[in-house]
Amino acid sequence: MNFQLTEEHLAVQQSARDFAQKELLPNVLERDEKQYFPMELKIKMGEMGFMGMMTSPKYGGMGMDYISYVIALEEIAKIDASAAVIMSVNNSLVLWGLEAHGSETQKQKYIPRLAKGEIVGAFALSEPEAGSDATSQHTTATDCGDYYLLNGTKNWITNGGTADTYIVIAQTYPERGHKGINAFIVEKGMSGFTVGPKENKMGIRASDTHSLMFTDVKVPKENRIGEDGFGFKYAMKTLEGGRIGIAAQALGIASGAYELALAYSKERKSFGQPISKHQAIAFKLADMETEIDAARLLCFKAAYMKDTHQDYGFASAKAKLFASEVAMRTSIEAVQIHGGYGYVKEYHVERMMRDAKITQIYEGTSEIQKIVISREILK
Ligand code: CAA
Repeated sequence: MNFQLTEEHLAVQQSARDFAQKELLPNVLERDEKQYFPMELKIKMGEMGFMGMMTSPKYGGMGMDYISYVIALEEIAKIDASAAVIMSVNNSLVLWGLEAHGSETQKQKYIPRLAKGEIVGAFALSEPEAGSDATSQHTTATDCGDYYLLNGTKNWITNGGTADTYIVIAQTYPERGHKGINAFIVEKGMSGFTVGPKENKMGIRASDTHSLMFTDVKVPKENRIGEDGFGFKYAMKTLEGGRIGIAAQALGIASGAYELALAYSKERKSFGQPISKHQAIAFKLADMETEIDAARLLCFKAAYMKDTHQDYGFASAKAKLFASEVAMRTSIEAVQIHGGYGYVKEYHVERMMRDAKITQIYEGTSEIQKIVISREILK
C-alpha cells in the first residue's frame, strides 16, 4: 500500500490550489453575500479542466482518475464550497452517468460542451415529497410513442437556474414501483419547462438552487437514458459516485477551516502567549488534524475503489458520512478558536460553518448513508 501521491496527483493539487487562490478567493465573500456565481468563473473552471475531470478525452474531458478529482475538489472547497458543488454536480451527477449509460448519440450531443464547462448540468431527482425516499417519484413521464410527456415538480436542484442540460428522473409505470422509473435528458427552453425562484440558503449561497416545474414537456424518446425502467438504478449508481464528490467537498471545507484556525491560533495572543500554546486550543487542533486525515483516507479509498472498478457504494457512503461530520465539527471549532472574529464574515470560518451543514444533507443525508452502510454490514 502506497500513501504517496504521484507526480500527476501533486500537479493537479498545485493547479487547483493556485486556481482557488487566484480566481476564487478574491470575491468569495461577495459571491456568498450576493448569492451569485459568475458564468465567466465557471468557464475558467472549465478551461482548467475542472468541469469534466474524469470524462474521456474522446468527449472533450480530461480523462483523469477519481483520486485526482478528490484532490482538486478538496483544494477548491477549501476556498469556495459553492464552486466545489457546481463542479461536483457537473462531473459526478451529470457527466459520469451520461458517459457510463448514455447512447453514443447522447454522448456526442451533450457531453463535450458540459465537459469543457461551456454549459453546466443539473441532476433532478428530489421532489417536494421525495427526498430521502427516492423511489416515491411523483413526476410522471407518460409514454406517447415517439416522445414522453413530462409532468411534475423537482426541488432543491443544484445549478437549477444556470444549467442548460438536466438529468430528470420520473415515473413512467407507477404500478411497477422503482422498476417503472426512467431518467431523461431535458434541455432548458423545452416548452412547458420552467425554473422557480432561487432558494435563499444558509450556506453554499453562491451556487444556485431552484425548483423545476414540468407541464406537458415533450421529451423525445431518444432522450431517455438506458433501457426502459432503468432510471432508479441509474440514479442510485450516479449518487454512489456523487457521494465521493460531496465527501471531498466536505473534506475541503474541513481542511480550509482548520488551516485558518491553525494560522490564527499562532498569531492571536492571550494570557501572554499565542493561544495555540494553551492546551484547550492545542487539543482542538489535534482533533481536527486527526479527523481530517481520516476523512481524506476514506475519500481516497472510495475513489481508488471506483478507479479500480470495485463495488464502491459502501466506501462512498462511509466517506460521505464521516467527511461531512468532520466538516461540521471542524468548522464549528474553527469559529470557536477565532472567538468573536470567527463570528464575522471577513474571517471566512462562519461561512465555512454554514457551508458545512449541507454536506450532511444533500446526495443523501447522514441517515441515508447509515442505511446504506448498515444494510451492507447486515446483509
Ligand atoms: N446501485 C444499483 N442499484 C441500486 C443501488 C445502487 N447503489 N441502490 C439500490 N439499488 C437498487 C436495488 O438493488 C433495488 O433493485 P431490485 O429491486 O432490482 O433489487 C432498487 O434499487 C431499490 O432499492 P432499495 O430497495 O434499496 O430502495 P429503497 O427505497 O430502500 O432506498 C435508499 C434506498 C438508499 C434509501 C435510496 O432511496 C437513497 O439513496 N435515497 C437518498 C436519495 C438521495 O441521495 N437524494 C439526494 C438527491 S440528489 C442531490 O442532492 C443532488 C444535488 O443537487 C446536489
